[in-house]
Amino acid sequence: MKKLEICILAAGKGSRMRSEKPKVLHEIGGRPMLNYLIDLAGSLQAHRTHVVIGNGADSVKAAFPDIDINWVLQTEQKGTGHAVQQVMPHVDPDARLLILLGDAPLVSLETVNALISTKSELSVLTVCQPDPTNYGRIIRSDDGQIAAIVEERDATPEQRQISEINTGVMCADAESLRQWIQALTTDNDQGEYILTDIVALARKSDMSVLPVMSGNSQEVQGINTLSQLASAERYFQRSMAEQLMDQGVRIVDPMRFDLRGSLAVGTDVTLDINCVIEGSVSLGDRVRIDPNVVLKDCVIGDNVHIKANTVIDGAVIGNDCQVGPFARLRPGTELRQNALIGNFVEVKKSVIGEGSKASHLTYLGDATLGDGVNIGAGTITCNYDGVNKFQTTIGDGAFIGSNTSLVAPVTVGKQATTGAGSTITKDVSDKGLALGRARQTEISNWKDKR
Ligand code: UD1
Ligand code: CA
Repeated sequence: MKKLEICILAAGKGSRMRSEKPKVLHEIGGRPMLNYLIDLAGSLQAHRTHVVIGNGADSVKAAFPDIDINWVLQTEQKGTGHAVQQVMPHVDPDARLLILLGDAPLVSLETVNALISTKSELSVLTVCQPDPTNYGRIIRSDDGQIAAIVEERDATPEQRQISEINTGVMCADAESLRQWIQALTTDNDQGEYILTDIVALARKSDMSVLPVMSGNSQEVQGINTLSQLASAERYFQRSMAEQLMDQGVRIVDPMRFDLRGSLAVGTDVTLDINCVIEGSVSLGDRVRIDPNVVLKDCVIGDNVHIKANTVIDGAVIGNDCQVGPFARLRPGTELRQNALIGNFVEVKKSVIGEGSKASHLTYLGDATLGDGVNIGAGTITCNYDGVNKFQTTIGDGAFIGSNTSLVAPVTVGKQATTGAGSTITKDVSDKGLALGRARQTEISNWKDKR
C-alpha cells in the first residue's frame, strides 16, 4: 500500500458567505469547519497533511497552533486546480494524495475510507443531490467510469439535468496527478485552473477514473452560503443527538438540541428543548435539564435537576442539587450535595456547602458557605470595593436574614443569624444574632400634611 498524504483546499475567499472571516473558520458545532478535516486527517493517520491557505492565511494558521500541518500558501486564488498545483512539489511522488475541500467538512471517515480503498488511478467521491445547482456534474461513460466533470457554468442545459455531482473529494496517485495538474489550462468560463478538468485528462491518457457514490448527500454537502452553513449545522446536530440517544439520553426534541463541545452522560439523563452544551460537560445519572439551559464546562452529579432558563459556566455541582429556574452559576462555583440555588440567584467563585440554600434573588461572590446554611432572599455579598475582591465565610447552619448585605471580608459564625435588612460589616460569632440596621421608630398620631 502506498502511503497516504492529504491536501485540504482552504485558500478561497468564500465570497458567498458575505463575511470578513475566512470561510473555513466559520463554525459548525462550535468548532471551525477546518477542524473537522484536520481531525479526519488524524483518524486516517495520513503521512502528511497539507493545507492550502490564502485568504486570511494568518488567522487560519493562528487558529491551529502547535499542530503538525504543512501550510502551503496560495498567494493568488486561481482556482482549485491551481491550489493543488501549489501542493504538488511537497508531495512524495510515490504517495496517494487525498484531496479534501475546506468547505465540505462533515464527510465521514467511513465514506473517505471507501474512496481511498478503491483501486483506480483517480477516484472521485460523488453523490446525487436533489438540487445539483452550482455543483460540478458527473458525466459517466458507458463502462461506468467518469468521462468528465463539467462545472455548472460550462455545462449544457442537458448536462445540468444530471443530479450526480462532484463532492470535491478525490484520491489519486501523486505522480499521475502531478502530470494532469501540469496540463490544466484556464480555457473555461471562469478563466481558472479547474481541478475537475483532471478527469478528462486522465481518461485521455487511458487511466481509470472511478466514481465512489456516497449515499448521504448531507455529509458531503459543500458550504458556500450561510444558508448552507445552517443546514450543515442542523445535520451535524442531528447526528450528535442520534449518538446521544443511542447512549440512552432522552432528548425531547433533537431539532432543538445544540452541542458545541463534548458531552459525557450517565444513565437516564433527560434534556428538554433548547439546551446548548458548550465546552466539556459531564452529566451524572438521572440528571434532568429543563428547557432553555446553557451548560458550559461543568461537571454535574447524579439526580441533579437544572430548571428552565439557567446558565451554568465553569461550575461543579454535586449529587442531588437543584438549580434554577433563572439561575446563573459562574466559573469557580462548587455546589456540594443537595444544595439548592433558586431563581434569580447568581453565584461566582464560591462553595455552597451540603444542603445549603439560596432560594431567591441573591448574589454570592467569593464566598464559602458551610453545610445547612440558609440565605434569605435579596442577600448579597459585597465582595468588591472597586479595586480588590474580598472573601465572605459563612459557618454551618447559619441563617442569613432576607436582604442582608455582607460587606467582605467578613465571617459569619456557625449557627449565627443576621437580622433581615442588615448590613454586616463585622464578623459575627458562632450562634450570635447580628443586627445592622436602623431601629424602627414610630411617631404616633402623626398628622399627614396631605
Ligand atoms: C467545487 C468543485 C465542484 C464541486 C463542489 C463541491 C471545482 C472547480 N469545482 O466547486 O465540482 O461540485 O466544489 O462542493 O473544483 N479553493 C482554494 N483556492 C482556489 C479556489 C478554491 O483553495 O483558488 C478552495 C476553497 O477555499 C474551497 C474549495 O477550494 O474550500 C472549493 O472551492 P469553491 O470555490 O468553493 O468551489 P465550488 O464552486 O464550490
Ligand atoms: Ca464550495
